[in-house]
Order: sequence, then C-alpha cells, then structure tokens
Amino acid sequence: MTDKPFLTDIKTLRKRAREHIEKGAVTPGYTGDRETVIKLLNEALATETVCVLRYKRHYFMASGINAQSVAEEFLQHATEEQGHADELAQRIVQLGGEPNLSPDGMLTRSHSEYVEGTSLRDMITEDLVAERIAIDSYREMIHYLGANDPTSRRMLEGILAVEEEHAEDLVSLLDELGSS
Ligand SMILES: [Fe+2]
Ligand SMILES: [Fe+2]
Repeated sequence: MTDKPFLTDIKTLRKRAREHIEKGAVTPGYTGDRETVIKLLNEALATETVCVLRYKRHYFMASGINAQSVAEEFLQHATEEQGHADELAQRIVQLGGEPNLSPDGMLTRSHSEYVEGTSLRDMITEDLVAERIAIDSYREMIHYLGANDPTSRRMLEGILAVEEEHAEDLVSLLDELGSS
C-alpha cells in the first residue's frame, strides 16, 4: 500500500505554473469555483459599499445633533468598511474578475440595507442590524470556501472579526444611550 504523497512534486508544480501564466495568481491548483467566488466577493463588495454610505450619512447627521462621540464611532466604522471594500476589490482582480462598483443595482447586490434612521437610536439600531447581516453572510461565505480558496477565506475571516467588533461597539452605544 503506497501512501498518496501530500505534496505535488516540484516538477509537476513548475510545469503547472508555466501553463496559463496569464491567469496570474489563479493556478491550476486553485480548486475554488472561480466564477461563484467572484460573484460572492462582488456581493460582499456591494454590502461594504452600502455600509460606507450608510455610516457616512449617520456620521454627518449625528454631528448635526451634537452627538460627537457617536458620530466619531460612525466615521471610524465607515473608514473600516471602506478598507474592507478595497480588500475585496483587490482580491476580485487577483482572481481574474472585475469589481462591480456600479451604483446600478448596488442595493440589490448588497446583503445589508441602506436605512437612514431619524433618531440617534434608530441609526445605531440600523447599523447593528446591518452588521449582524454582514456577520452571518461572511460566516456562510467562509464555510462555503472551506479549503478551496485559503487566501479569500483568510481575508473574509479578518473582515468577519472586525464586523463582530463593530456589532459589539454598537451594542455598547445603545446601552450608553439607554442609561442617559
Ligand atoms: Fe466591513
Ligand atoms: Fe462593519
């Protein structure tokens, strides 16, 4: 009984790397369903972009109602969501796809919604709902990717951890608001 070697021998690896070099980072060893992965990443990109817009809106409105510390939290989240959007767009290109940043259909592609909210409490609540949606969809995507695309998976795991922090921040803000 011969054990199947865990690693592909160097000769085969080198030969494979030379085939289809125009595919850049996508080698024949990539076992993900590339089209589906790109589609999922584009949905996440739309989600993050909608989150940036919503947090920005909340930032400016909260500044207007003199809630400086909450406004700053909104702004920080907006900046972090923009960072996530950039990471996703970059990975889409690496996989040979195109980031879809068209405003047309952005809300349909996005998992989370754009709700303006009127009071500070409304805004925080809507942001919390959006974060919880993002958390669930990232978790599902990570599960879907499994071992087929470790780079995308690792990136999504990093983003997921930040969304969980965002949700926690918002819960704290709601608590503070409740006791005031
Ligand atoms: Fe995000
Ligand atoms: Fe977030």
